[in-house]
Amino acid sequence: MKQLLTFTALFIVLTASAGASEEFQAEKFHQTSCTGCHDSSVYTRKKRRVNSLPRLESQVRMCDANLGKKLFDDDIHSLTDYLNDNYYHFGK
Ligand code: HEC
Repeated sequence: MKQLLTFTALFIVLTASAGASEEFQAEKFHQTSCTGCHDSSVYTRKKRRVNSLPRLESQVRMCDANLGKKLFDDDIHSLTDYLNDNYYHFGK
């Protein structure tokens, strides 16, 4: 039984990471596409404009629109989560 559990856990980890490589990667996308106009210091400056999670999401949408990438909703959400986890830390 224990072996079966270990196997199942391993299987989940492997399939999850295999899936992720084809999916949208927020960190990578941010590095390659979001640092052209500003770097990440705008997220941490004293007078930053974004002050809540919904505002963060709409800012990400606005910047995506400027960029012309037309990200899917899911990608906008992972990008928002990425910024929140690393810089903004708003409660959900
Ligand atoms: C076409 C230029 C441009 C690109 C590309 C761009 N941004 Fe921005 N972004 C701006 C401008 C302009 C501001 C406002 C800066 C200011 O108020 O000084 C801003 C501000 C922001 C803020 C708010 C910072 C604060 O004050 O809290 C966030 C968050 C943000 N951008 C995220 C992104 C993300 C995510 C991407 C990649 C999808 C991106 N930006 C790409 C122009 C851009």
